[in-house]
Amino acid sequence: MEQIITIKDKKFKPFIEDSVIAKAVDSIAQKINSELSHEFPVFLVVLNGSFMFASDLLKKVSIPCEISFIKVASYHGTTSTGSVTELIGLTENIANRTVVIVEDIVDTGVTLEKLVSVLKGKNVKQIKVASALLKPESYKKDIAVDYVGIEIKNEFVIGYGLDYDGLGRNLKDIYVLAE
Ligand code: IMP
Repeated sequence: MEQIITIKDKKFKPFIEDSVIAKAVDSIAQKINSELSHEFPVFLVVLNGSFMFASDLLKKVSIPCEISFIKVASYHGTTSTGSVTELIGLTENIANRTVVIVEDIVDTGVTLEKLVSVLKGKNVKQIKVASALLKPESYKKDIAVDYVGIEIKNEFVIGYGLDYDGLGRNLKDIYVLAE
């Protein structure tokens, strides 16, 4: 039976069950374990939305690795160059490292693009991207999303770390906006 939930002023219906998410996360972990076993990667978990995905994923990643938690902040600098992107929380020296960006969802890719451009300035060896969800109809950037859990349509979803106005992150299943 469809269980509609209300978050603030909007109604959401069940979309992707936690067991389905778990399988997708498991296959990403297997891929990472086989492809990056000699890389000693550093996982950069992009907060807040990725916390649940990162936790599930990294429990299944069995290769030696480091994990760091970051936030992407954009602000308007005092120069004429406009918006400046800053990574908050990155204390490790990531030069010459394989970096795996851990995202909750890639939608337009604007966030990912900013993140990648900042990381490229830090002389990393290579950048890989893992995202629990991807909206292919919306994503038009050139950056490869190497590890995708589940592709979804261009719809607004919550749960599994994703929020609507700060709410819904704690839901274990993913819900989609109901008409
Ligand atoms: P992008 O920069 O357009 O790729 O969007 C990135 C960010 O927007 C994600 O990290 C999410 O925080 C947020 N976002 C995009 N789509 C959704 C959604 O369907 N539900 C909740 N948050 C979303």
